[in-house]
Amino acid sequence: MQTTEFPDIKEGLEYKYYCGGKWEKSISGKTISIRNPYNDDLVGKIQACSKEEVDKVIRTAQENIDCWIETPLNERIEVLRKSAKIIRQWSEPLGQLLMKEIGKPIKSAISEIVRTAEIFEGTADFAATLGGETIMGDAFEGFTREKISLTYRVPLGVVLCIGPFNYPFNLTGSKIAPALVAGNAVVMKPPTQGALTPLHYGKILEEAGVPPGVFNIITGRGSEIGDYLVGHPSIAMISFTGSSETGKKLAKTAGMKPLLLELGGKDAAIVLDDADLELTVNAIVSGAFSFSGQRCTAVKRVLPMPAIADELVNKVLEKTIQLSVGAPEENNTIGPLISSKQCDYVQGLIDDAIEKGALLKCGNKREGNIMWPTILDNVTTDMRIAWEEPFGPVLPIIRISSAEEAIKISNKSEYGLQGMIFTENLDLAFNIAQELDVGTVQINGKSSRGPDHFPFLGTKSSGLGTQGIKYSIEAMSRPKVVVMNLSERGKLVRECKSDL
Ligand code: NAP
Ligand code: G3P
Repeated sequence: MQTTEFPDIKEGLEYKYYCGGKWEKSISGKTISIRNPYNDDLVGKIQACSKEEVDKVIRTAQENIDCWIETPLNERIEVLRKSAKIIRQWSEPLGQLLMKEIGKPIKSAISEIVRTAEIFEGTADFAATLGGETIMGDAFEGFTREKISLTYRVPLGVVLCIGPFNYPFNLTGSKIAPALVAGNAVVMKPPTQGALTPLHYGKILEEAGVPPGVFNIITGRGSEIGDYLVGHPSIAMISFTGSSETGKKLAKTAGMKPLLLELGGKDAAIVLDDADLELTVNAIVSGAFSFSGQRCTAVKRVLPMPAIADELVNKVLEKTIQLSVGAPEENNTIGPLISSKQCDYVQGLIDDAIEKGALLKCGNKREGNIMWPTILDNVTTDMRIAWEEPFGPVLPIIRISSAEEAIKISNKSEYGLQGMIFTENLDLAFNIAQELDVGTVQINGKSSRGPDHFPFLGTKSSGLGTQGIKYSIEAMSRPKVVVMNLSERGKLVRECKSDL
């Protein structure tokens, strides 16, 4: 399949929103400037769309869904495969743009794009196996085999896909692919900071064969149009990734409609006396500081047992101070946080901890939006950093004296995304894992969402529902049941031989 060259979808630096197969300027006449968080360069401008345009994109999706539902599944699957090919072909320019708009190190930015192609391909593969089940009535007393239940899956309608700033292309694509393959129409609201790269889905899906109006993009601040979008009566389902604060507000506004919410986290690494320290240190440092800690599944607490705590802290420190710091285009591990406001928030957590007696091992240094990786030892539960999600390069060490204490502190968090246990005793690890109130427990590995066919979910303030290729398709469709009540008139009579 020959795809066109990477398209220039902007005019000057201005990007339009995408509705009914057309790129349009907002009637508001306003745009929002997107600036590079590393050097404050103007990267682009997006439309500050109005509520009238929210109505317009949703109405357009509603009006065009029928042709998509009628499209055979194998053709919808082929569209995903073509989309994946285009995404792969454009991964370099898309990665460069992503790096500029959110400050992600260039290699991670490009891998986010490629990973999204893999999600499109995996979704296409799984969708081909989509089916239902047939159940005979005679399992229940009083019913016969002439009553037969036939089930298959049907789309929900117009699905609203809202993504976060830290994986703006991947965590919108991971929603769009299952929504479309299930037969839904889609309205996507990308994060404002991180909107430019996902705006290219308009071109990608058009090239891949999605009919005009089936996929639409609205841009604008969530604080201005988010509630109206979420509460719109024509939205049949919402797949959201973002902060717990926004997710909880969204759930209240959305009312009676299916929700898939992937929210914040405070993932704790429990390190037992017999842990393989080299493996553990590598997992903790990579898990805590990749993309400057701006991952929901970042390692956000370390709970070491006494016998290994000092050695662990020293090894984590030794590896942390070697992390490269600087420009994302030079692929430094530690780059800018998304905004100065976010840096201020993270600094507040560090200051609070130090004021309350935490031991600063490294970091607590800032230049512009870059914050050096910071390790705080002897963190106690009266400190904010023990409980709040920094979404920045800060790692609290909360020393524990028993596995029971580790479980208690882990479970006391309002979050329940993932947990980690580092030990050579897999029986003990499995027993502890069963006690942790989280979506996923990693044994001898760092918390992470991938691979993307795994179920990914959070408990408590970390989310609602389960993401992951199969799970997302199921969340964006529903069973349709047809019960056949056959007549006994046509029944073949079998003689039961009495001597059986
Ligand atoms: P955020 O501030 O909650 O924003 C997420 C998305 O929601 C953005 O597109 C935002 O639009 C939109 N939004 C804001 N207010 C809204 C409203 N009232 N109604 C509907 N949408 C609204 O989160 P973020 O700063 O982008 O991402 C960081 C947070 O997301 C962290 O807490 C992180 O843990 C979480 N996260 C979780 C996962 C996961 O898989 N569990 C993955 C990534 C991130 P604007 O950009 O225009 O404000
Ligand atoms: O915060 C984004 C979340 O989805 C984490 O993804 O693959 O970095 O664990 P990952």
